[in-house]
Amino acid sequence: MNSDNKFVYDRTNDISDPVPASEPERQYYFMERAAENLAKLTEEAGRPLTFCVTTFGCQMNARDSEKLAGILERVGYREEPEEEKADFVIYNTCTVRENANQRVYGRLGQLGRMKKRNPHMMIALCGCMMQEPEVVEKLKKSYPFVDLIFGTHNIYKFAELLVTRMESGRTVIDIWKDTDKIVEDLPVERKYPFKSGVNIMFGCNNFCSYCIVPYVRGRERSRDPKAIIREIERLTADGVVEVMLLGQNVNSYGKTLEHPMTFAQLLQEIEKIDGLERIRFMTSHPKDLSDELIRVMAESKKICRHLHLPVQSGSTRILEKMNRRYTKEGYLDLVRRIKNAMPDISLTTDIIVGFPGETEEDFQETLDVVRTVRYDSAFTFIYSKRTGTPAAVMEDQVPEETVKDRFGRLLKEVQDISAEVCAGHQGTVQTVLVESLNDHDSSLVTGRLSNNLLVHFPGDASLIGKFSEVRLDECRGFYFLGSRV
Ligand code: SAH
Ligand code: SF4
Ligand code: F3S
Repeated sequence: MNSDNKFVYDRTNDISDPVPASEPERQYYFMERAAENLAKLTEEAGRPLTFCVTTFGCQMNARDSEKLAGILERVGYREEPEEEKADFVIYNTCTVRENANQRVYGRLGQLGRMKKRNPHMMIALCGCMMQEPEVVEKLKKSYPFVDLIFGTHNIYKFAELLVTRMESGRTVIDIWKDTDKIVEDLPVERKYPFKSGVNIMFGCNNFCSYCIVPYVRGRERSRDPKAIIREIERLTADGVVEVMLLGQNVNSYGKTLEHPMTFAQLLQEIEKIDGLERIRFMTSHPKDLSDELIRVMAESKKICRHLHLPVQSGSTRILEKMNRRYTKEGYLDLVRRIKNAMPDISLTTDIIVGFPGETEEDFQETLDVVRTVRYDSAFTFIYSKRTGTPAAVMEDQVPEETVKDRFGRLLKEVQDISAEVCAGHQGTVQTVLVESLNDHDSSLVTGRLSNNLLVHFPGDASLIGKFSEVRLDECRGFYFLGSRV
């Protein structure tokens, strides 16, 4: 379908060839070998075998899942959207908050029962949760029916691990602590033909004191700009008009490259790519957002009018304990500079409630930031204790009831404000990229504005992937009903 990759491993169909040592050739070799194994299994089953990748967590994980799907399609598995019907189920996991882990354990129990009924079934687990040794111990002990476990650093080796599983018949577990390696040019199977995520960096060096990501995703590494440009050129040649550049802190892109370059400079290079219409990116860490970036965004015709700028807390005292390295005033000043340069920008954020030691006064500071900035939308999270992070052993963990009360108050404030901000666009005509048929009413299509808001309007499937001019007729809180002009 939407394969981005044109790389072909040139092997003269002789399995006695020595295994290539260099990447990605080695993985293309294993994809062929997996295909040979799969052909035998398919014959035994008497029907094509299917896979389903289920993604938990962030857009980085979603992009990784597309890479897994790309490898499996190339091996010859067919994609099956319903997990219950698939022969090979892969969970790409997240561990940023404890409830993400609980969901995985809950669903694994169900998968185990399905496996008893389907002799061809395989289960693989990968992603951030697998980087935690306690998790892998628990899986070994309580979920021995899992076939394949790997982590975030060796995901590029999926084909090789799959072959090991197929040929040994035993559970394969391979987790690396860290890596400095980036393997390019593996196959990818995109979810949408017209838009795509593009990794520009991996890992994180910020060590916010509550956050587990730096431990499970390793140190920050930027991709070579030439590889990024080449990937986007291929994507646009294949019909992509919108890219989302992905990294935990895109504003520090390029610092560790052999020839350092800034994120703003990278954006300017990407802007030149013909056929590309829209550029998005996430996530921006406020401490590294430069005036150069604000200027480049303001001058750009392709960069979308949206910035996701996680504040986490409005209290300078809590921000310091979080190791965020900005103050409330610094953040508000940054927002002021952004809004001065781009009055029509949409700002969204992430906020954590109940960080250890958070008092009512600290919480009031957060509400104050929310009221001052007036976010288009905000993701609000209850603080979740992650073992191994500095915050997990801080004193004064906030009682659950207090946190729940604050969370409710914050949510109401955030929702009231975003409904007002959203209503401010009513009556305007905007360019929309149509993404899908409406989930509930197939006489409508759903499209996205430059500022990331969604609008539903009458239309049919022929509009998907195309731009339309749409009048925003009626605000419904977080989205619009509209009509084509
Ligand atoms: N790199 C991004 C965030 C990635 S995690 C950034 O720095 O902005 C996405 C969001 O999850 C974070 O912004 C934070 O709000 C939330 N989060 C991370 N760890 C958390 C924890 N331990 N408890 C609750 N929320 C958390
Ligand atoms: Fe986590 Fe902070 Fe890194 Fe974001 S910047 S991933 S919150 S450590
Ligand atoms: Fe979760 Fe890993 Fe993303 S922990 S939020 S999937 S980087």
